[in-house]
Amino acid sequence: MSPTSFAVRIERQNHPSQPPYWQTFLLDHEPGLNVTSLLQRIAANPTTADGVRVAPIAYDSGCLEEVCGSCTMRINGKVRQACSALVDQLLTENPTGIELRPMSKFPVVRDLCVDRYRVFRALEKLQCWVPVDGYYDLGAGPRQSPAQQEQNYPLSQCMSCGCCLEACPQYQEVTVYRLDGESAEAYEERRDAELDRHFIGAAAMSQAVLMNANPTGQSHAPQRVEAMIAPGGIQNCGNAGNCQAVCPKEIPLMHSWGRANRAATLHSIKKLFDG
Ligand code: SF4
Ligand code: SF4
Ligand code: FES
Repeated sequence: MSPTSFAVRIERQNHPSQPPYWQTFLLDHEPGLNVTSLLQRIAANPTTADGVRVAPIAYDSGCLEEVCGSCTMRINGKVRQACSALVDQLLTENPTGIELRPMSKFPVVRDLCVDRYRVFRALEKLQCWVPVDGYYDLGAGPRQSPAQQEQNYPLSQCMSCGCCLEACPQYQEVTVYRLDGESAEAYEERRDAELDRHFIGAAAMSQAVLMNANPTGQSHAPQRVEAMIAPGGIQNCGNAGNCQAVCPKEIPLMHSWGRANRAATLHSIKKLFDG
């Protein structure tokens, strides 16, 4: 039998520089709720279980169908998307209630919103795109065999959610604050240089593998592999496999790691012989 009401415990934070704190909310049970709709219910009446009126919880959401990755958070200790986390299922697993926390590997902006800029910076560092010469009609691109499509399509489902990075023991939070009086340009340059020194993680690595496998993207493969073996690169991976275990898209990340390492070895041998 479903409970008539349930408790939701949320780790909140008012500002990146302030400490986190907890608040508990009591909600009436409704069939078919997911965690995003639960947060909408709280926003409509942000009153804690003690009857205190508080500011609504800040949270991100976009697609509501596990495609954009923006709603990723820790739900009952597991990193996943709020929009696909069903309340009934969570209460069956843990009848005492639901606990929500922001991801721990990214700077908290407010409450459950985190800044995933580092994920996108890593994609930029590894040039995870297929170059085009212009915006005129280039005609059909080179064909890929069904076997190549089968191998590469799963990698294209990455939504940069950050679950694989949250679960990775080699991936640690890096926060770069803007200094007093520092211009936006100077801050961004310093921030990117600092982020580039740290581990790129599984998501960007797998996207670089995907772009290197694309017949047009192959033209930039040497530059991508160079970036993959630069400081903060693939050599930091400890091969524990946590990343693949938590990926909501079931992307075969350990296979991508194997492909990335093989590409790096071949690249190094080629450089040796090319002088
Ligand atoms: S590889 Fe999977 S877990 Fe990692 S960002 Fe992409 S979709 Fe998310
Ligand atoms: S296999 Fe590498 S990227 Fe994946 S969790 Fe382990 S250390 Fe992190
Ligand atoms: S809102 Fe896009 S993945 Fe949840």
